[in-house]
Amino acid sequence: MSKASFHHSDEHLALELQRKMEGASQVFLLTDSNVAELVLPRILPLLKNADKIDIIEVEPGEASKALDVCHHIFQHFIEANAGRDALLVNLGGGVITDLGGFIASVYKRGIPFIHVPTSLMGMCDAAIGGKTGIDLLDVKNVIGSFAYPKAVLIQPNFIETLPIEHIKSGFAEMVKHAIIADPQLFDALEIIDIEEPNHIALFIERSTLIKEDIVMEDFMEEGRRKILNFGHTIGHAIESFCLSVDAPLSHGHAVALGILVEAKMSYHLGGLDLESYTKIQRLLSKSFQFPKNCQWEDILPFLFNDKKNKNNQVRFAIPKKMGTCEWDVAVDLEEARAAFEELINE
Ligand SMILES: NC(=O)c1ccc[n+]([C@@H]2O[C@H](COP(=O)([O-])OP(=O)(O)OC[C@H]3O[C@@H](n4cnc5c(N)ncnc54)[C@H](O)[C@@H]3O)[C@@H](O)[C@H]2O)c1
Repeated sequence: MSKASFHHSDEHLALELQRKMEGASQVFLLTDSNVAELVLPRILPLLKNADKIDIIEVEPGEASKALDVCHHIFQHFIEANAGRDALLVNLGGGVITDLGGFIASVYKRGIPFIHVPTSLMGMCDAAIGGKTGIDLLDVKNVIGSFAYPKAVLIQPNFIETLPIEHIKSGFAEMVKHAIIADPQLFDALEIIDIEEPNHIALFIERSTLIKEDIVMEDFMEEGRRKILNFGHTIGHAIESFCLSVDAPLSHGHAVALGILVEAKMSYHLGGLDLESYTKIQRLLSKSFQFPKNCQWEDILPFLFNDKKNKNNQVRFAIPKKMGTCEWDVAVDLEEARAAFEELINE
């Protein structure tokens, strides 16, 4: 498992990508139409034999993590006679790295792939850790694989063109990493201007490293990797409810709300102290609000669908104090309800 490499200029990133593409019989590049317009032109002219790269473009957004889109890409590969020594480069946000990683992991039982994440979520989270997936029948990531890319190449400045709502979404995961593993990173995130991509870009590498270190220790998520689910138990339930009433929230927004609730639960249970909890609440409430129509009874059914549950108990990753986190903590749902209701009534 190799670590992501950071490249602080387009030229440097292109050089490394060029090196990694050598030896492949054919190179395919998967991207979405936004990234094709805003990021691809920064890289393509810097690559030798760029005209030989077979570019596959899909629509932006979660809807592209779908079987029909896979079908279209598999068909493209088959028509191009792509062999097992072909290479797939996934240039885009988490949708492209999840989709492209999945396709590469199963086409002809697996071909090599490289992630070049372009969103903050992609750089700090989705492209790291070897999970791939697509959605089916409204269930997120229900089809997928664990598959490790040949390389992950990151140019933090790609986020310059990323819309603010997607910056916020990735920022929530950075805050999560800081709470579970790095109090100093949290202190830094508290004072930066999140509307300023240059400020955020400074902390991407630290956030990425946190995820990588945790994944390296527990690739198959049998133990410590579960701390990355902090904020996600409640977050996923809120996300699923909002989706079910046609008022979707971004994944990061839902995770930020989940972090708020689960941090409050931790405080109530004698984990996080008041000062730490207040800092988390102050930082996240600046950018993320609870949707007006979302009550505890609405999200409860979705909590029982959580894949982390065992024997009908809801399990959480709960910080013990700033910088450390426990996993598989069975918590009485009344605790979760109390934290949730206090927050929505604030
Ligand atoms: N595999 C994992 O471990 C993992 C972890 C977290 C999230 N995810 C998945 O990641 C997805 C969300 O990722 P995302 O937030 O990156 O969504 P995304 O890929 O849809 O990207 C967000 C938007 O930003 C655009 N975009 C991307 N880079 C850009 C750039 N540099 N400039 C301008 N626009 C740009 C995209 O076109 C898209 O419209 C979800 O499907 C989620 O399930 C996976």
